[in-house]
Amino acid sequence: MTFKLGRVVRTVTVLGVLYASASDAAAPTLKVPLTSKLAPNFAGFYNSSAPLTNAALKVVTSVQTGDDQTFSDILIDTGSAILWVGGQEKYIPGNYTHEINQTFSVGYGTGGVSGTAYVDRVTIGTATVDSQIIGDANYTDGFTLVEPLNGIIGLGPVGSNYGEVSGFNTTPTFVQNLYTEGKISHMIFGIYITSLSESGIPEGTGEITFGGVDQSRLSGDITWLPQNEPLDFHWEFNASTLSWGDKLLVTGPIYSRTDTGVLPIAIPSEAFFDILDDVPGTNVDSSSALEGCLIFPSNATANSLPPLEIGIGNLNFSIPASSYIVPPTLYSALNITADNMTHTFIAPGGFGAFDLGQKFLENAYSAYDMENHMIGFALLA
Ligand SMILES: *[C@@H]1O[C@H](CO)[C@@H](O)[C@H](O)[C@H]1NC(C)=O
Ligand SMILES: *[C@@H]1O[C@H](CO)[C@@H](O)[C@H](O)[C@H]1NC(C)=O
Ligand SMILES: *[C@@H]1O[C@H](CO)[C@@H](O)[C@H](O)[C@H]1NC(C)=O
Ligand SMILES: *[C@@H]1O[C@H](CO)[C@@H](O)[C@H](O)[C@H]1NC(C)=O
Ligand SMILES: *[C@@H]1O[C@H](CO)[C@@H](O)[C@H](O)[C@H]1NC(C)=O
Ligand SMILES: *[C@@H]1O[C@H](CO)[C@@H](O)[C@H](O)[C@H]1NC(C)=O
Ligand SMILES: *[C@@H]1O[C@H](CO)[C@@H](O)[C@H](O)[C@H]1NC(C)=O
Ligand SMILES: *[C@@H]1O[C@H](CO)[C@@H](O)[C@H](O)[C@H]1NC(C)=O
Ligand SMILES: *[C@@H]1O[C@H](CO)[C@@H](O)[C@H](O)[C@H]1NC(C)=O
Repeated sequence: MTFKLGRVVRTVTVLGVLYASASDAAAPTLKVPLTSKLAPNFAGFYNSSAPLTNAALKVVTSVQTGDDQTFSDILIDTGSAILWVGGQEKYIPGNYTHEINQTFSVGYGTGGVSGTAYVDRVTIGTATVDSQIIGDANYTDGFTLVEPLNGIIGLGPVGSNYGEVSGFNTTPTFVQNLYTEGKISHMIFGIYITSLSESGIPEGTGEITFGGVDQSRLSGDITWLPQNEPLDFHWEFNASTLSWGDKLLVTGPIYSRTDTGVLPIAIPSEAFFDILDDVPGTNVDSSSALEGCLIFPSNATANSLPPLEIGIGNLNFSIPASSYIVPPTLYSALNITADNMTHTFIAPGGFGAFDLGQKFLENAYSAYDMENHMIGFALLA
């Protein structure tokens, strides 16, 4: 019963947002440039006896705060919800800084950060929050693979930073503050991530749009999906299908999340093993930075391999083989031996689960609605 009521309410909000965005085209949005970089230490520090990891991508921007300081290499993270600086360069309280005599502490997958919390003015691109609770790190651990790292801006859902700043249950995120300070009129943001260049220079400029989405990046409408509960945790949603050419491998609901911080597309493990069995001569990478990913025999090529088709709401995202095959120009950066095999960015994501990294996101626009608890996707223009 509760479940059914929940679904009815969600359907109504979906319509509400479609209507609002259609009638509100002039709402202010603020754009912030993003840079995608292959985490520079990754290949060098890659440790083959460490637990299964996948090649890391870092998507970073610059943050201005403190005593007129600019902190570059601030990681964009949709999986956390605190803004902190001071990882490399010392934070100096400035004219807009208020002491609040509190501490902060955040645990991430592999490590953590802690230090002193302040209220300060923060500018990212054209977006300024006058009163943002920020962390000044005096201790970090576990970020070796993504150094240099000066801080992290968390874009996670409202309420997902419980217990991370002393004296508060939860603290408002940067996007929440842009909204409450009237800088944007919707608590929505959209992300466009660029791909690694084939010349082997893994860098490009993407963007975050605060307050809405960047229509110029989209082709067609955004499909909005309800966020999976609990709503104050992660941006997770259910995808509906996975096909491999004309074979329907998995039908949903498929528990899914986007991940700006990794390169591979992690597909449901049952589909991963179907493909492994289906194509004679296929192996699993056990030695490069793409450990765990599929390696096809050399007779499987971009022309002969079918696309991965990922169904999300009423959209199908087709990831062509040319996009999931690793270009040989990236082999040395990813510690892949030139073995005349067809290396891929396809990893196992666990039973019935997707983790949609850069190789998916470079084929899709993603959007996050903190007011209506929805995640949106659109085809790229
Ligand atoms: C690179 O890959 C080789 C196997 O191809 C592996 O033996 C070696 O440990 C890897 N080295 C580094 C630094 O990742
Ligand atoms: C490699 O990873 C293993 C397992 O996490 C760890 O015990 C070992 O110390 C690491 N080796 C190096 C050289 O970092
Ligand atoms: C801070 O305020 C002082 C005194 O008004 C001023 O001299 C200084 O330039 C200001 N600093 C910055 C970075 O704006
Ligand atoms: C922070 O602590 C200092 C020193 O104890 C005190 O002067 C100041 O009023 C406190 N500020 C706040 C906001 O509690
Ligand atoms: C780091 O910050 C915390 C919280 O403000 C403080 O208790 C601790 O003494 C600081 N440690 C160092 C080494 O500065
Ligand atoms: C996602 O699928 C799971 C499993 O079927 C279901 O329990 C959950 O309610 C679904 N999420 C949404 C938002 O509908
Ligand atoms: C491709 O190569 C693999 C491994 O060498 C072999 O088992 C398979 O039969 C070949 N497929 C075709 C279509 O030639
Ligand atoms: C690489 O594989 C292709 C296709 O199987 C084959 O024609 C070619 O001779 C191989 N090259 C080397 C250097 O093994
Ligand atoms: C997406 O593709 C799958 C497999 O080709 C198909 O079953 C499904 O109906 C498609 N969904 C939409 C919305 O077109």
